[in-house]
Amino acid sequence: MRPGHRKLLLGFLAACFFGQTALVYSDPTPTTPLSEEALGGARTWHANNCQSCHQIYGFGGFLGPDLTNVAARYPGTALDGWLTHVLAGTGQMPHFALDEGERAGLAAFLREVDTTGIGQARVGPGDSGGFAAGELPWWEYE
Ligand code: HEC
Repeated sequence: MRPGHRKLLLGFLAACFFGQTALVYSDPTPTTPLSEEALGGARTWHANNCQSCHQIYGFGGFLGPDLTNVAARYPGTALDGWLTHVLAGTGQMPHFALDEGERAGLAAFLREVDTTGIGQARVGPGDSGGFAAGELPWWEYE
């Protein structure tokens, strides 16, 4: 390769790098900030290592279920009651001594996370999703 061409190639690669960097850092995707209460819940979530067993958006540990959309299954204040029940320890879920404010924060956090996306690929009508007819993916079992 001639030295002139090498410089051109380098310049082109540098331009690609800066172009890509500009695109990544100016991503206009709107982000919805969490409310104060949900932020408190997120802190409780991290302080108690809930993510070591649970996933949000599919990320986290796999001992417990993904909780991205758990709020959708317990509408309104039902989630608060369910959290109180679950945090007392059930099955392999350990007991957590959290006060009412911390539980309300966790409920707010899970409610707001539920509105932002889905945690698991859903098997829709007419889409076998890789599962045989009549067979349910494991997260559909209760
Ligand atoms: C040691 C692992 C572990 C940790 C840590 C953990 N969980 Fe769990 N969790 C589980 C398991 C396992 C289940 C399923 C329980 C069952 O089958 O009875 C569960 C169930 C749940 C459920 C019910 C899910 C549903 O689909 O109804 C909620 C809500 C929940 N956990 C919230 C939390 C929160 C909040 C924290 C942190 C404070 C937490 N968990 C920490 C293992 C864990």
